[in-house]
Amino acid sequence: MIKCVYPGSFDPITCGHLDVIERAAAMFYDVTVAVLVNKNKVPAFTVEQRMDFIRRSTKHLPGVKVDWFSGLLVDYMKSRGANVIIRGLRATADFEYEFQMAAMNARLAKDVETIFLMTDISHSFLRSSMDKELVAHGGKITGLVPPEIEEDVIKYFNR
Ligand code: PNS
Repeated sequence: MIKCVYPGSFDPITCGHLDVIERAAAMFYDVTVAVLVNKNKVPAFTVEQRMDFIRRSTKHLPGVKVDWFSGLLVDYMKSRGANVIIRGLRATADFEYEFQMAAMNARLAKDVETIFLMTDISHSFLRSSMDKELVAHGGKITGLVPPEIEEDVIKYFNR
């Protein structure tokens, strides 16, 4: 039985992330999107907000679960009985980092596989940090973040 976890910061979820979630959900029955709570990083959005954004953006995918984790991903995977990590790959820029992370996770947990999904070409340039920078400077983020959360993201930066 394949049990997938799609981990990330999702600060906030982008259309690129959503594309990966939709494609993972089309292939696998059991997909959990897991938001990292990283005590060393100050995110724009709280973990509750980030999970709420993901829930609202994935409401058309009833099987997809949303959760959070802290510490090592492989420990979270073990606690959930999950065996597959899903990650999106954008062009070549992500490869080095993703390769290292997959290798480290494979070393830490022999029974956990990482599966990469190529991000749809139309989303391949998207990064949460770029969306935040764009909106902070009054740029339009329509089509970059899911429409369900667009207003909240804009509101956050205009507060
Ligand atoms: O969206 P991101 O920030 O690229 O996601 C990175 C994430 C959350 C997948 C990664 O940083 C992670 O798994 N962090 C938890 C700690 C861990 O297990 N690191 C990998 C082995 S050292």
